[in-house]
Amino acid sequence: MGVPEHSYNPVTPAIVAELCGIVGEQYVIYNEPERMIDYAHDEVAGEEHAHMPEVVVKPASAEEIAQIMHLANLRLIPVTPRGAGSGLSCGAVPVYGGILLSLERMNRILEIDRENMVAVVEPGVITNDINEAIKEYGLFYAGYPMSVELCFIGGNVAENAGGGRAIKYGVTGRYVLGLEVVLPTGEIIQLGGKRVKDVTGYDLIHLLVGSEGTLGIFTKIILRLLPLPTERVVLLIPFADVPSAIAAVPRIMTLGHMIPSAVEFMDRLSVQTAYEHLGERLPHPDIGAMLLIEVDGYSKEQVEAEYNAVVDLCLELGALDVYVGNTPTTERRMWRPRQEMAEAFKAICPVQSLEDIVVPLAQIPELMPELERLSQKYDVLIPCYGHAGDGNLHATVVKKPETPMEEWQEKLPAILEDLYIVVGRLGGTISGEHGIGSKRSRYLQLVMDPTVIELQRRIKRVFDPNNILNPGKIFPHLNH
Ligand code: LAC
Ligand code: ZN
Repeated sequence: MGVPEHSYNPVTPAIVAELCGIVGEQYVIYNEPERMIDYAHDEVAGEEHAHMPEVVVKPASAEEIAQIMHLANLRLIPVTPRGAGSGLSCGAVPVYGGILLSLERMNRILEIDRENMVAVVEPGVITNDINEAIKEYGLFYAGYPMSVELCFIGGNVAENAGGGRAIKYGVTGRYVLGLEVVLPTGEIIQLGGKRVKDVTGYDLIHLLVGSEGTLGIFTKIILRLLPLPTERVVLLIPFADVPSAIAAVPRIMTLGHMIPSAVEFMDRLSVQTAYEHLGERLPHPDIGAMLLIEVDGYSKEQVEAEYNAVVDLCLELGALDVYVGNTPTTERRMWRPRQEMAEAFKAICPVQSLEDIVVPLAQIPELMPELERLSQKYDVLIPCYGHAGDGNLHATVVKKPETPMEEWQEKLPAILEDLYIVVGRLGGTISGEHGIGSKRSRYLQLVMDPTVIELQRRIKRVFDPNNILNPGKIFPHLNH
């Protein structure tokens, strides 16, 4: 596509001097591997997924980024944009070296517009900080990735992050009303605005949302806000086995006549891993699986009625117990093992592949035995947790301690391929929220028609004729 990836030019000292001229010398890291190593990886486990940049630059404005892109496009140097590096598909890994463009200095909340219920933010704002800043105005940003206290809103938009409250509130894209974007060719464009409705021309905003940093670099984001829910209750519900926990999920919505703000699922191994990591005792000794359900709203009576319905239904469906959290401290305590789950697996089972497959809700019961079948066939563990209310599950393929590393490396691609084929057959796909990045690009063709892949490559070429912005992501490599 465009320039073959092997024909990029190296970052020379002359280029570094030009970059220093644009952003200031103190915001360029060059020839300092010990400082650059932090920018070589994201949260994907395994050194094989990392790659060192040739230079790191930290611009402070759209104008500086435009100059950098202009230079990179002219000199054919790859540029990889990076938020907080909390991604899970190697989207921010500079797989061809070149310039790593960190958005960390662009971390201002530019405006909280209460009348229009929008916030205008720079990409490097930590997502949770948005909510901290707007709650005094009675406003709420509904995006809730598990890494909400670390991740940047720019990365959330680039990946169209999902997370723990998507079942009720939808994913990041629903809240993006406008974007300022620097194109790979160096132009700065404005899309959308503070308006909720807009059908003027193609919906480029939602082409850019989720484009994994391959079409443009966001420098300003206009976010739609909601009134802050005043009531919230969290329920931790252990079940004896996986099928009964999973069976409860759709029933809560159809029989309970409500959409909870979160329905999270964890199997026994996941619960054990997270609680062990936090040094806490399991909530119940016989847990085979657990649901974490959150109900929120604006009226105490309604929230109470809804959570009582959830409790009754779950007990009818075989729940072992129900724990209720309705103070900020208990809620936080109940969410914490779930929030730190991925971190716990990384610490306790570092040789693993964290997946984020998604299937239609009614197919989850068919998926679960398939995970068991694959774990037997390949002699690996596949613990599973995730956003059961969305059909989006973090099956995590884990190496058994006794398996030699070479054997693991050889069989992992076969396991993933097998898993992805199963998911495709069930009407699902290979990533619900983490993205394709470089981690899954070689598997895209398992679930996507070649004509659709080619159409997307053509869109990429329109934005980035020289293929310099975040190359090696999403699409299967052409030059291997
Ligand atoms: C989570 C991340 C892994 O849901 O997406 O914990
Ligand atoms: Zn998730």
